Amino acid sequence: MPRNSLGSVFMMVLLGNSSVLGLATRLCPATVDIAFKEAHHLHTKYYNYTNGRLNGGSVWTDANALETMHELMLLTGRTDFDGVADNSYIGRHALNTSSDWQAFTGGYIDDAGWVVLAIWTMADYKKVRGEDNVDTFLISAGQLYDKIAANWDDTCGGGVWWTTDHGYKNAITNELFLTLSARGYLRTGNQTYLDNAKKVMESSGMRTSTGLFNDGLDFATCRNNNGTTWTYNQGVIASGLAALAVATGNHTLFHQAEITLDATIKRLTAPNRVLKESCDDPHANGTVCDIDQQTFKGIWTKHLQYYLTSAANVVSAAKYGPFLGLQSEAVVRYATNASLDIGSVWYARDQGGSVYNVKSLPSGIAAHVAAAQYGPCL
Ligand SMILES: *[C@@H]1O[C@H](CO)[C@@H](O)[C@H](O)[C@H]1NC(C)=O
Ligand SMILES: *[C@@H]1O[C@H](CO)[C@@H](O)[C@H](O)[C@H]1NC(C)=O
Ligand SMILES: *[C@@H]1O[C@H](CO)[C@@H](O)[C@H](O)[C@H]1NC(C)=O
Ligand SMILES: *[C@@H]1O[C@H](CO)[C@@H](O)[C@H](O)[C@H]1NC(C)=O
Ligand SMILES: *[C@@H]1O[C@H](CO)[C@@H](O)[C@H](O)[C@H]1NC(C)=O
Ligand SMILES: *[C@@H]1O[C@H](CO)[C@@H](O)[C@H](O)[C@H]1NC(C)=O
Ligand SMILES: *[C@@H]1O[C@H](CO)[C@@H](O)[C@H](O)[C@H]1NC(C)=O
Repeated sequence: MPRNSLGSVFMMVLLGNSSVLGLATRLCPATVDIAFKEAHHLHTKYYNYTNGRLNGGSVWTDANALETMHELMLLTGRTDFDGVADNSYIGRHALNTSSDWQAFTGGYIDDAGWVVLAIWTMADYKKVRGEDNVDTFLISAGQLYDKIAANWDDTCGGGVWWTTDHGYKNAITNELFLTLSARGYLRTGNQTYLDNAKKVMESSGMRTSTGLFNDGLDFATCRNNNGTTWTYNQGVIASGLAALAVATGNHTLFHQAEITLDATIKRLTAPNRVLKESCDDPHANGTVCDIDQQTFKGIWTKHLQYYLTSAANVVSAAKYGPFLGLQSEAVVRYATNASLDIGSVWYARDQGGSVYNVKSLPSGIAAHVAAAQYGPCL
């Protein structure tokens, strides 16, 4: 190995270590408090111990909410929602290695991807706490991952389908497959996961010249369908590329990820630099994001947080940390009402167009959790 390449490995280790050490010490207490206050509100207002669901939620948004709650406990070493992992309906299925995942996810391959992420984070939490059945969770996550992988084919240059009826290939399902494959490899060392991650990278891209990913493919031409550039698409690809960069040592992938992250900050924000979905509008007479779209921005912040953890370098943390802090502040200033509910519009105060529900609330919490880890502490 040439000398300068050894040197750069050494630098990475140094930067990586200082950043990892930093993570434990630089969590912002004020932002952690806000995140827990809101997570307790979510738990109290919506969590249903009878069926393990969030009342009014859906599989994929509940998966994201559970992931965020457990991520927050993992980051802080706290146990506020101990027992939720096993009680949750996702956990109940994870505890049953004969679960009918097809029925559970309704045939949505992207939902399966979100559920794997939730099961992994809950398993990590259970492991740290020394709880039982961690391996059962991981076996179930592996089974579900295999079901996703089985929905890959070569149509339009490769990629997994959005649903098991194979009607549409979209960006989010493939971004999730990339992130699961790369992270799965890092978790297990199993080569199949790494091969799958590389396969997604080689399949047809949906990134445009703006740096953003569109929703999906047009099958008449096998080309980008020019669908909406949702925020969450721009986050999940970044966390996936970063995990693959770590898995392969190919640091170009960090650069690729930052092209899309930077394009998000440039193009999917309001003039005050707060994230704005194309359907977001604070006015009652404007457009309103649908029940799924209301949760996208928080997923972007969560996957930027994962990106920064994988990248483990102070330069990227310094580049994006203030932006994460700004999102968290905006959620407090504009989106949070007097009873701690968080609305769907972050960039301006509600004038009748922001929607407050079981999906917009965990989205806002995800912004606080990401800022607690990487945002400045003012
Ligand atoms: C909680 O779940 C149970 C079982 O599905 C249901 O009967 C009950 O109505 C739910 N509670 C609320 C507040 O929705
Ligand atoms: C596990 O899942 C299978 C398939 O849905 C079901 O038949 C079985 O009753 C479940 N087992 C338990 C203990 O819930
Ligand atoms: C690797 O992962 C694949 C896909 O999940 C699985 O089929 C295979 O059994 C795993 N191999 C090992 C050695 O665990
Ligand atoms: C998407 O937009 C590009 C550039 O305007 C255009 O060339 C392409 O045909 C469009 N694709 C579809 C499926 O409409
Ligand atoms: C690293 O990733 C980039 C971007 O996908 C790719 O073009 C390049 O060939 C990769 N380098 C290696 C050594 O695999
Ligand atoms: C929508 O309502 C806002 C105030 O709530 C007003 O400023 C704006 O002009 C209205 N837009 C239209 C198209 O009516
Ligand atoms: C906050 O939003 C929730 C959900 O829409 C609503 O039930 C509650 O009344 C609001 N609180 C205040 C103080 O406006």
